[in-house]
Amino acid sequence: MNILVTGGAGYIGSHVVKELLDTKHQVITYDNLQKGHKEAVLGGKFVEGDLADKELLTTTFKDYNIDAVIHLAADSLVGESMEEPAKYYQNNMVNGLNLLDVMVENNVKNIVFSSTAATYGDVDHIPITEDLPKEPTSVYGRSKLFFEQIMQDYDQAYNLKYISLRYFNASGADESGQIGEDHNPETHLIPIVLQKALGQRDKLAIFGTDYPTRDGTCVRDYIHVTDLAQAHILGIEALADGKESSIYNLGNGDGYSVKEVIETASEVVGKEIEAIAGERRAGDPATLIASSEKIKKELGWKPQYGDLKTIIATAWQWHKNHPQGF
Ligand code: UFG
Repeated sequence: MNILVTGGAGYIGSHVVKELLDTKHQVITYDNLQKGHKEAVLGGKFVEGDLADKELLTTTFKDYNIDAVIHLAADSLVGESMEEPAKYYQNNMVNGLNLLDVMVENNVKNIVFSSTAATYGDVDHIPITEDLPKEPTSVYGRSKLFFEQIMQDYDQAYNLKYISLRYFNASGADESGQIGEDHNPETHLIPIVLQKALGQRDKLAIFGTDYPTRDGTCVRDYIHVTDLAQAHILGIEALADGKESSIYNLGNGDGYSVKEVIETASEVVGKEIEAIAGERRAGDPATLIASSEKIKKELGWKPQYGDLKTIIATAWQWHKNHPQGF
């Protein structure tokens, strides 16, 4: 298949592209490079473009004879989405609609969509299964949930088939050390901890130490980005084989607290990483742990890098060797 990967120059997208390069499929990355890095795209064709540009999208579908889409292009900062909802609804929904419309116009029926655990909001049932109520606490979460609902309507009306992957905490880096996480600004825990270990940050704050968890800090389900990437390939191939539209969680089913992440990172880098207790960050749920039984059962997904130490070691390899990112 000729597979269009939107957002293929981003952190997760570039890992999806790398895994696709090892398959029989052809990859066409479509990215506006606002957040992504051209150097992160290790092969295939590249189109620099925005989803707002419907004309360029249409030309790209025709020029490359696109058969299927993996759609990751989006804004994805929870905090920012509360300050700038217009940006999130415009980019994640309205511009995403252009993509769906160009798919329908070109008779392309299959899409794998990058969704998020943020669609659930605060849940009191752990592990989280796909059928639990969805009450997102952020605009970001809502923009992703609305897009899932739009795809459902496009399926019913236009027979567009989708697989939506609700990621938990994507982390780690490709084993080769060639690509990894490079956000500006960086807000995620593991890269921040490793930047502190490298002396690139003065302080590392733990956002809240009074949560109802085993050590008072937030618990998250960290999943290796290569395991995530593999799920996209399983998804797009399943759709090509006639699978019905489906939604899957993607996590390891294990939760680690912020303190445990810092301790494990200290072991990986071989020295203590100092942290101070800070205030809670708005919008953080205490515990998010996925049940990924559904995708294991239906698509045969098998995580290869489930262990937190392995996840952090791959991230460390990347940060140590690319202290300035790409
Ligand atoms: N944290 C700190 N100190 C820091 C940074 C983070 O204590 O300097 C804490 C956070 O408060 C949170 C945990 O570390 O408890 C993980 O934070 P991240 O920012 O790494 O990840 P989140 O769980 O907040 O968010 C991630 C993705 C979102 C997605 C969400 C879904 O970044 O896009 O998972 O659960 F929506």
